[in-house]
Amino acid sequence: MSSPRLKLLLTHDQISARVEELGQTIGEDFPTNSSAEPLWLIAALKGAVFFQVDLARAIDRDVGLGFVRASSYGTGATSSGDVRVTVDLEDNIAGAHVILVEDIVDTGYSAQALLDRLAAAKPRTLRLAALLDKPSRRELPITIDYRGFEIPDQFVVGYGLDHDERYRNLRDISVLSL
Ligand code: IMP
Ligand code: MG
Repeated sequence: MSSPRLKLLLTHDQISARVEELGQTIGEDFPTNSSAEPLWLIAALKGAVFFQVDLARAIDRDVGLGFVRASSYGTGATSSGDVRVTVDLEDNIAGAHVILVEDIVDTGYSAQALLDRLAAAKPRTLRLAALLDKPSRRELPITIDYRGFEIPDQFVVGYGLDHDERYRNLRDISVLSL
């Protein structure tokens, strides 16, 4: 899929190499592979699914996969504080090690709403993995424990990230001129 509106930012090879590194780090941080210390990767639908499954395969231990979704009800294209959880967690993560997996942290409202939701389920530990970080747009202080890449304030698509549901299945990440 090529388009004059797309400018390559991160190749699939760069993304894969970074995801491998993050997976290794997570494996080292949660080395006890037993039913007493389950590890869950909870993806923020829909964009983080590609990252979630690649990250899961890069972690050398058992991982559970779960899903949540936050939707912003603000006006306009950008997020606002009015974020609601529209797809809720189905799994019991009480007492488990839990990592929320986000495609991108922009203002931070979505990640914060989902972290609050997961914290209410009483995990043993709760961390955040985000493939992309746009710190220039942050409105809430968010700690990203496992970060793929910091990117400038541009709208990107591919590797799960969409614009009106398009471009998610691109293997690379590109800047989309809007
Ligand atoms: P937030 O502003 O941190 O709450 O981010 C909300 C959501 O906006 C993210 O989870 C993405 O789905 C979407 N988003 C933010 N920036 C981009 C982008 O550059 N490309 C595609 N989606 C984005
Ligand atoms: Mg989106």
